[in-house]
Amino acid sequence: MNKRLASALLCAALLGSGILRADNIVISNRKSSILITAPKGESPRIQYFGPRLVNPGDVFDSGSAFNDPVYPQFGVQCSRETAIQATHNDGNMSLELVVESVTRENRDGGQVTAIATRDKFYPFYVTIYYKTYPDCEVIETWTEIRHLEKKPVTLYRFASAFLPVRRGDNWLSHFHGPWGAEAYLYEEALRDGMRVIKDKDGVRNTQNSCPSFMLTLDGRPDEQHGMVIGGTLAWSGNYRIAIDNDNAHTTRIFAGINEDQSQYILEPKEVFTTPVFAFTFSDEGKGGVSRNFHRWARLHRLNHGGEQRSILLNSWEGVSMNVNQEVMDQMMADFAAMGGEMFVMDDGWFGDKYPRNNGTSSLGDWVVCKEKLPEGIEGLTASAREKGLKFGIWIEPEMTNSKSELFEKHPEWVIQQPHREMHKGRGGTQLVLDLSNPEVQEFVFGVVDKLMTAHPEIAYIKWDANMTLFNYGSTYLPRDKQSHLYIAYHRGLENILKRIHAKYPGLVMQACASGGGRINYGLLPYYDEFWTSDNTDALQRIFIQWGVSNFFPAVAMASHVSVDTNYQTGRKTPLKLRFDVAMSGRMGMELQPAHMTDEDKAFARRAIADYKLIRPVVQQGDLYRLISPFDKTGYASLMYVSPEKDHAAYFVYKLEQYHNMPRPAFRMAGLDPQKRYLVRELSLDGKPIPQDGKTFTGAFLMETGLDFEVGGEYASHVLELKAAE
Ligand code: GLA
Repeated sequence: MNKRLASALLCAALLGSGILRADNIVISNRKSSILITAPKGESPRIQYFGPRLVNPGDVFDSGSAFNDPVYPQFGVQCSRETAIQATHNDGNMSLELVVESVTRENRDGGQVTAIATRDKFYPFYVTIYYKTYPDCEVIETWTEIRHLEKKPVTLYRFASAFLPVRRGDNWLSHFHGPWGAEAYLYEEALRDGMRVIKDKDGVRNTQNSCPSFMLTLDGRPDEQHGMVIGGTLAWSGNYRIAIDNDNAHTTRIFAGINEDQSQYILEPKEVFTTPVFAFTFSDEGKGGVSRNFHRWARLHRLNHGGEQRSILLNSWEGVSMNVNQEVMDQMMADFAAMGGEMFVMDDGWFGDKYPRNNGTSSLGDWVVCKEKLPEGIEGLTASAREKGLKFGIWIEPEMTNSKSELFEKHPEWVIQQPHREMHKGRGGTQLVLDLSNPEVQEFVFGVVDKLMTAHPEIAYIKWDANMTLFNYGSTYLPRDKQSHLYIAYHRGLENILKRIHAKYPGLVMQACASGGGRINYGLLPYYDEFWTSDNTDALQRIFIQWGVSNFFPAVAMASHVSVDTNYQTGRKTPLKLRFDVAMSGRMGMELQPAHMTDEDKAFARRAIADYKLIRPVVQQGDLYRLISPFDKTGYASLMYVSPEKDHAAYFVYKLEQYHNMPRPAFRMAGLDPQKRYLVRELSLDGKPIPQDGKTFTGAFLMETGLDFEVGGEYASHVLELKAAE
């Protein structure tokens, strides 16, 4: 049995593409494997997920096979949680899926294995896909559901993925937080019962909780050691990740769209495709999971993932909605003099009948406000060009206000329900447009298309979305498909983004949603970055960025220097800390430079020049998180290392200040132990550390580390390491 099985598995693994004849399917990348048994006419079963299998037969001989359905369905064996539940038109609520075929093909830079199943009785089909890449460790999975029954079938459950994990001392790391405190890290040992991570905002799915998690396979979570799996749902709408522990042997993970209030009426021949669930395995702790996701993002999932980002000044915290040509000119001139590369005009530039002066009006009226900007957008792009800057602009195209020309013309375009007064958002007037409606999709696409056609010099768009989907109901969707709105909204959004992406492939876009409300991989194929949080307080950003960095690379993480009595927390921190925190992500500024002293401007000029030195390694290097702010040692540190290990950037921040508080060792990671590195301090506002200009081996830096004083409260250091020739 063993020999036969092994050769069947080998045969399956060797087949590059085409129909897989073997019953046993191994899906592997460099470090991990999935093993599935899929005999024709029988239920496909997932047997294993974990470290790469050398001899898949070991799974069976060792007794560790899961033998769980690949896509658990409600029906015959109906006592467990399920990935899919469909009610046929005759009232039968069950499914019994068996294998029709298993195929493998190369598609878009990866290899896709497709397990096609069919119900034993009904012409109801589910294909389960797994995609691996030769150049990264992430596996994508999703499903396609369709049927040829005579009448519609109602889907009540439709997970993207099911993943079993051997139950043991499993710890969950997940990320929660409201507006201004997004993505805080929480870690807990998994207990009996079901742990659900979910969102129901309808528009901004990461404002309270993130559709991403890590799970250790063997004990407490650690940054550098241990076996950890990580998963993230690539979807911008409501989600539900359920981790079910009702069994002594297996922990079962279900991830997908949140089906609450979203039952889907599937017409004959219609294909329902679930969003991608991306997951990865690491034997280098949580840090390994993060690096796997970052690499996947940069290579396959993030718009312009491999490209360097511009250093920008955004006008929002500097002048709020008080934009005009003169102030924009002055901000651009000051920023250009500091070495900046792009200027982004935020909210306040639009509205004809109702000029946008506060949050109560004008969304939807995307024409320039001539009172504020008599020379129009041309005046701004010309000014930017003259100063050697690129130009970007803010829009919030999915929204309107009841005080707007758009709403006056098209009240039916707004999400609403009959017989009820509308619950409005920001300014007491904000409303969400119904993106399920193709006419509305056309309008939203047109917002960008008109701007870009008239002003091809626009290099960057900050796309905001500041409201929850209230007043659930659509004038477009038919009566019996009102429950499609949460899903149709996001499919509509994706349609629009796909069109923009196809027509303006060079355009850089930022996903903002009241700050970090849209940090998800569903949107990142169309956006280059996200606004990490409206909270720009450098101290709190250390925590927020730490959380976000678990899944998203620094190149996508917008991080801006703002003023020293922070608007959100009221905290005063040194300009150096504000720069040093911003430098660990996609650095920018968000203040009125006219309010800076000459000394501050001179420091900013030096820090911007220094950021340019480490930008390639911060934005494209491997992240090593070293001292966690959540560990409450009073310090935090992290570093980025180039893939060749010849260049690195190290950051350390002081979070608290007590007399004689112990100092942790500043050990590094990810370096080449054999190489010698020259250490240089950057972003200097005083004397450099004593080790500045000296050379150390990678081994010493990683095992012993450097020992230097980190000044008082909110002090920080940025070090550049270069391998000596
Ligand atoms: C939201 C965003 C901010 C800013 C304002 C403008 O709050 O998160 O960054 O763009 O809208 O109104």
